[in-house]
Amino acid sequence: MPISIALATDKLPEKGSLIITATDGGKLGALGKQLDKKIGGAISKAIKIKKFKGKPASMFALLAPAKSDLDRIVVLGVGDGKKLSAFDAEKMGGTALGAVEKAEGNVTFLLEPLGSNVADGEIAARAAVGAYLRDYKFETYKTKNKSSGGPKKFTVATKAATAAKKAYAELKVIADGTIVARDLVNEPSNILTPPEFAKRAKALTKLGVKVEVLSEAQMKKLGMGSLLGVGQGSVQPSQMVVMQWNGAAKSKQPVAFIGKGVCFDTGGISIKPAGGMEDMKGDMGGAAAVTGLIHALASRKAKVNAVGVIGLVENMPDGNAQRPGDIVTSMSGQTIEVLNTDAEGRLVLADALWYTQKRFKPQFMIDLATLTGAILIALGQDYAGMFASDDRLAEQLTEIGNAEGEKVWRMPMNDNFDKMINTPNADMKNIGGRYAGSSTAAQFLKRFTNNVPWVHLDIAGTAMGSPKSATSRTWASGYGVRLLDRLVKAHYEK
Ligand code: BES
Ligand code: MN
Ligand code: ZN
Repeated sequence: MPISIALATDKLPEKGSLIITATDGGKLGALGKQLDKKIGGAISKAIKIKKFKGKPASMFALLAPAKSDLDRIVVLGVGDGKKLSAFDAEKMGGTALGAVEKAEGNVTFLLEPLGSNVADGEIAARAAVGAYLRDYKFETYKTKNKSSGGPKKFTVATKAATAAKKAYAELKVIADGTIVARDLVNEPSNILTPPEFAKRAKALTKLGVKVEVLSEAQMKKLGMGSLLGVGQGSVQPSQMVVMQWNGAAKSKQPVAFIGKGVCFDTGGISIKPAGGMEDMKGDMGGAAAVTGLIHALASRKAKVNAVGVIGLVENMPDGNAQRPGDIVTSMSGQTIEVLNTDAEGRLVLADALWYTQKRFKPQFMIDLATLTGAILIALGQDYAGMFASDDRLAEQLTEIGNAEGEKVWRMPMNDNFDKMINTPNADMKNIGGRYAGSSTAAQFLKRFTNNVPWVHLDIAGTAMGSPKSATSRTWASGYGVRLLDRLVKAHYEK
């Protein structure tokens, strides 16, 4: 549905639905009070009867209020207006849209000044983008019973409309990057094969991104035996996609983002149990986030040189699939004993990381991967696991993650974890022991970073199977796009 921002005047809308806010203690703003008066005090009476305290996300609705042509008035609690952060405003916008899911016609979300030290224009823009993200649905394959109805239009009305419109235009572009990632992760694996994913990444060309697709033959020539071993049991060809957004001077070292793109992970010969295996359609969440990020950076013409590299494969059991015990040679020259074919993500990233640092000499590399089930056990679904060889980058990500609602939690790396992947038969094996599974996976990746400042984000818990929130109602959250876009914006543009 169209979501927009309009100038709030003293004349209140007379048709459709109207959402107003109440702060701590159920206090209305000036226009809210004016409306209350117009309809004979029904709002203040309801606040009293309900003992409505204006707690964040609490609400009530008056339907068909007398002396008014409005369908409904929703009163939405926002808590202590002074403490409202930009991210709170976003959740508030999502909640506001949720409150009128069943409404028809136009909806106006009237945002009066709430006393926050975040500017009113920014608050309104954030509310609009929260509504925009909440509105996302994945219904491509529904031929009937699609969600129907809902508002015709959702307008955030604010006195700071000029500033709000400007801020919303930029935020929406980032949200569109998140939606690119959500769409990719939600797609089923019979549709989103490695070549189809590559095709969709290629579409970024129209935003000015340079996109290259490496074929199996090209990767073989480069010596990517680690990545190619994973895909060899699939009828789908493996591909590597390199996306370059050049928004800064040529001389400027790029920043690099690398994504795990396992388009389906059966586990291979070390096959996974049947229950829940369908979730492994989302095992390309890292690659989706990188693609969404480059989409966002290019759309807003970020003043940065950024590289996105994604390794696209399908991990299948087959007569030609790799076996437990096989030894492969990675592009780095290091050999790997594949003791479990289900630990395939690190095999893909090994070659993608090596290739990236070798070709682009980046300032840093950040990889995203739905890498281990163990990270879900450790951190659940609220935090991505962060492993870093660079403290500054880790601190920047922690701060931005907290502010933007895409949180990271730093996990340990050390020499003892590293030793756990040694094997007598090759330079390393692709699994550690029973313990510290996410850390041994990270140590494995580190061996392919060639000491370039690096962060690994294990997003197995945050990218898919996401709990419903104020701004996301869908299986795929699109985690990572916003976090990394804001990282670039805050620290790596000119
Ligand atoms: N794609 C999985 C990890 C995963 C699990 C992602 C659950 C999302 C939800 C990964 O390839 C995998 O299978 N990892 C194994 C590693 C093990 C064999 C060392 C795991 O976590 O069990
Ligand atoms: Mn696996
Ligand atoms: Zn996997």
